Formats: sequence, C-alpha cells, structure tokens
Amino acid sequence: MRSYASQSRVIAIDGPAASGKSSVARKLARQLGFIYVNSGAIYRAITWHLLQNRIGSDEEERISEALDSVALACVVRDSEARIVVDDVDAAEHLRDDRVNECVSRVSKLPRVREIVSEKLHDCAEGHDVVIEGRDIGSVVFPDTPYKFYIDASPEVRLQRRAAQGERDEITIRDHDDVSRAVSPLVKAKDAHLIDTSQVTVEQVVTQIMLRLEQAGLPIGDVQMINRAIGE
Ligand code: CDP
Repeated sequence: MRSYASQSRVIAIDGPAASGKSSVARKLARQLGFIYVNSGAIYRAITWHLLQNRIGSDEEERISEALDSVALACVVRDSEARIVVDDVDAAEHLRDDRVNECVSRVSKLPRVREIVSEKLHDCAEGHDVVIEGRDIGSVVFPDTPYKFYIDASPEVRLQRRAAQGERDEITIRDHDDVSRAVSPLVKAKDAHLIDTSQVTVEQVVTQIMLRLEQAGLPIGDVQMINRAIGE
C-alpha cells in the first residue's frame, strides 16, 4: 500500500449501517467547511459498475480486470466528493436494491479495498475532509487524531433504514462487514464512541465539535479560515 504525506485534517466517522453516520458526517463537514466524503459510495459505485458488466462478486479475476480498465474518479462538487465511473456520475445508482445486496461481498476483496483507500487518500490531498465509512480510523487513516465511532441499537438502525424506504438487509451486511478478513468493521481503539439511538443529529455534531476542540482542532479558526476562502 502507498504511504502518504499530507497536511490535511481528516475526521474519521466509522460505524455500522444506518447508525446515522451520513447525516452526522455531512452536517459536521458543512459546519467546519471541510469536504464531505462517503467512502461507502465508492464501494457502491464499484459494485454498480460490476453489476452493469454482469460480473459476479465471486469472480475475483474478472473484477481485477474490470478495475484495471475502469476510470474511477472522486470529483469535489458543492463541498462533497462525487464518484464518477467512466465519466458517469454514479450517484443515482448507488442505493439500488442490487447494489445494497452485493456491496458487502465486493467490499471484502483486498484489491477493491486497496483501490478505495487510494481514492480516499487522493480526496484528502490538499483538502480538509470528513470521511465516513467502516475502516477509516482503523486502517485508512490510522494516524488521524480525530476518530469517531457512531453506533445505535439494532432496532433503531432497522427502523431508520425502513423509514428511508429501501430494501436493505442491514443485518446481513453488518455481519459480512464485521467478519471479513481484511479491514473489518471495528471501533479503532482511540476512536470516541457515540450512541445515536436517543439523540438528534445536531446533538451528535455538537458532541463531536466539543471533542475535536479537546483534541486540539481550533474549531473557531478553522471555520473562519474556510469561510474566508469560500469553501
Ligand atoms: O449507508 P450505509 O451505512 O448503509 O452503507 P455505506 O456506508 O454506503 O457502505 C456500504 C457498504 O460498503 C458497507 O456495508 C461495507 O460493506 C462497504 N464499506 C466498507 O467496507 N468500508 C468502508 N469504509 C465503507 C463502506
């Protein structure tokens, strides 16, 4: 794996499906003027591309070939990283039922994880970022001092996903994500745990901001600088 020298600040927000990561990470990024990056969207875009090409999640060799030939780019637009696959913005396909069903099987492949990790480091090159995912604090950016693990009870998470109107077997995905050999979903030892079952997104963001200040991130200065440069 590549090693990277970057001066950017990285805030890692990890946790299981429907724990509230996306809402929290997006709002936090907006408040700080950081770029919001959803690493799951990259795994989803790859999965969508493989499905389009009728490549099964167990066909490792064909997956490798497909990854060698696809142009995968993270493009920053409106302070968010968008995933572009062979010049197509994949956003509208990322939550398809078939993608929900297959994404965890695709995500367990080391080659896939390596490519996504590279893309995430590319996104953080020259940008302060809030990145949400499963292994951001534990594996992709282990040296960042800003790590959070967002969780909620299984009942609350199931309710939240159902309320979004998606067909998504999150229990199966969580099991696959926790039990895979490479970069499983795990709370990094130095990550701050927040249970979002009973609290609002705003309350979680406030908690994180306080924690970031305690960890040495000068929140007021960061917001002022980012406003000044128009982020
Ligand atoms: O939004 P939700 O939490 O349901 O899922 P997501 O963040 O879009 O991630 C979709 C899937 O991508 C996860 O179930 C994992 O299998 C995989 N993933 C991963 O392996 N590592 C990450 N850093 C992010 C996502």
